[in-house]
Amino acid sequence: MKDKRFKRTLVTTALPYANGPVHIGHLAGVYVPADIYTRYLRSLGEDVIMIGGSDEHGVPITIKAQKEGVTPQDIVDRYHNIIKSSMEGLGISFDVYSRTTSATHRQMASEFFRTLYDKGEFIERTTSQLYDEQADQWLADRYVIGTCPHCGFERAYGDQCEHCGTSLNATDLIDPHSAITGNVPVLRETKHWYMPLDKWEPALREWILEGHKEWRANVYGQCKSWLDEHLQPRAVTRDLNWGIPVPIEGAEGKVLYVWFDAPIGYISNTKELLPDTWEQYWKSSDTRIINFIGKDNIVFHCLIFPAMLMAHGGYQLPENVPANEFLNLEGEKISTSRNWAVWLNEYLEDFPGKADVLRYVLTANAPETKDNDFTWRDFQARNNNELVAILGNFVNRALVLVNKYCGGVLPERGELAEVDKAVLDEVAGYRERIGDLIETFHLRDALKEVMNLARAGNKYLADTEPWKVVKTDAARVDTIMNIAMQIVANLSIAIEPFMPFSAARLCEMLLIEPMKWPQLGGDNLLPVGHKVSDNPGLLFVKVEDAEIEAQEQRLQRIKQENIINSWRPAPVAPAIDFNDFLKLDIRVGTVKACERVKKADKLLQLTLDDGAGERTIVSGIARYYDPQELVGKQVCFIANLPPRVFKGIESRGMILSAEDADGRLVVIGPAGAVRPGVSVK
Ligand code: 2FM
Ligand code: ZN
Repeated sequence: MKDKRFKRTLVTTALPYANGPVHIGHLAGVYVPADIYTRYLRSLGEDVIMIGGSDEHGVPITIKAQKEGVTPQDIVDRYHNIIKSSMEGLGISFDVYSRTTSATHRQMASEFFRTLYDKGEFIERTTSQLYDEQADQWLADRYVIGTCPHCGFERAYGDQCEHCGTSLNATDLIDPHSAITGNVPVLRETKHWYMPLDKWEPALREWILEGHKEWRANVYGQCKSWLDEHLQPRAVTRDLNWGIPVPIEGAEGKVLYVWFDAPIGYISNTKELLPDTWEQYWKSSDTRIINFIGKDNIVFHCLIFPAMLMAHGGYQLPENVPANEFLNLEGEKISTSRNWAVWLNEYLEDFPGKADVLRYVLTANAPETKDNDFTWRDFQARNNNELVAILGNFVNRALVLVNKYCGGVLPERGELAEVDKAVLDEVAGYRERIGDLIETFHLRDALKEVMNLARAGNKYLADTEPWKVVKTDAARVDTIMNIAMQIVANLSIAIEPFMPFSAARLCEMLLIEPMKWPQLGGDNLLPVGHKVSDNPGLLFVKVEDAEIEAQEQRLQRIKQENIINSWRPAPVAPAIDFNDFLKLDIRVGTVKACERVKKADKLLQLTLDDGAGERTIVSGIARYYDPQELVGKQVCFIANLPPRVFKGIESRGMILSAEDADGRLVVIGPAGAVRPGVSVK
């Protein structure tokens, strides 16, 4: 590691809410990059621990429990186990993966709050908060839905607008309604404890804006814009019955805000892992703390939690917070509630033995500087054209050839040709290059370099053509195969942080123990006389079209279900006077003739028998009806609108219609036959 100020590294990973399994967005944003970074440091021989755990408090969990008619504890037990085992399945190598309902955490978070309280670090405020009288419940955070005051998004939550990312107070929402009953909430007074973030603003400014200009532009920029707009006190308690009780008198029925307790989970989980030495990782200035998070968590990790740590005293602040942007799925934002996601547990079932393929694709396409898109076609292409065709192909060719020409035993090298020296030189440069990229959190580029090492191997075989040389110069073939196999051995080190399962398989193929990062670049990793497997098999296999089509069809089905489920009737318009209703003259007419209006794709010209004679009405339904379909049908129309001219045709009235689930207009008529011209009442 370049930075010699630090003796140890503490890697934290955002604690996922235990209200659903983890999906590819979580993985690309947080867990895969954190795991690559940690595995790299371990391989380097550094003192490093990676902390994870489930975030088991907060409104997303109680809402899910209420919907299913079970307890919040049932929900978190279920998803904690799913998350934990699927992370293992993907090779995310947490040193500890605990949960915020653990006894250690309850105690740690409670004491943390109490320390700040005793130090007088909170402000107490009584304010009006939203209350659902029918549900007899306070509406904190996601219990309220309304219109975002910043961007106008109509389904913003009481704590955050998912559309523009702005962090909100429930009382900021326009037209708020309860997520439980749909009712309009009332305001009631309640007391809460606030972190005076304004007090910490100068220290945060100094620490980030002056001290951490090297942070990613998105993280630095987001912090700067928050700080420039000035920080306000933030409530750190809630009126809820699920969470860690506020440990002071007079706070009965109140719990710690989930964003107060969750980051303390990093500390409690470290304590669970290392009951005796955890403080070294949090309190010594020679520990480097790195927080891996998604961009929606920046404010909590860069401003609020650091303010809490400063207020408490004695704790180190993070050295870096390499937040990623978002990963979308097939062009749309990933959403747990709309099931628009690729769930890790399902992926591992659908693609057994392919954990590394997902790790590879999510890293090659990591949203490090901008939002990126995951598509199943890209997944297939990267597997087939990169993992199989470049990396797998090189490893396979080298192993097959060394078995064929050398009986699977590492031959001696003779005098080196220019091409040999050049490739060994190139190989020697990868340790530094890949290492530097990982240490500066450029993991996409680091992975590109790993693939360049495999490319160098392929090019070396193509340039040296051992299959031709074998006919004339056996000693030269020995040299070529020795060098090719050294490149394969180097790959087993270089791919490990990114694709640990494949690295282990490669070691099995080579019949070696895993090697460490400092050995990367070596030209004698496999000794002469070393025997490799004579039946190595393939490192990667193709993903077939049928597998991809099955995934695409699943997403299509979800899209359909979402369209059906997401529809809500428009809000009822303001009440009108009955006399206003009577002014509308709605009647039934019988369609006598119907034809398309020339040079207007949307319009049909209908001739109605309106009881008094013939009436022409032009209607914008041409995309939904064949003209002949309507002839003979009875339709409702408004008879007393002023005439309007469309494409030179005078239209006397308006046909009534309604939209179906696919957005097509359906003409409205009487359910049984009536006389033409009769009024609709
Ligand atoms: O956004 C989320 O999913 C949160 N559960 C992350 C919490 S990170 C931390 F502070 F624990
Ligand atoms: Zn918004």
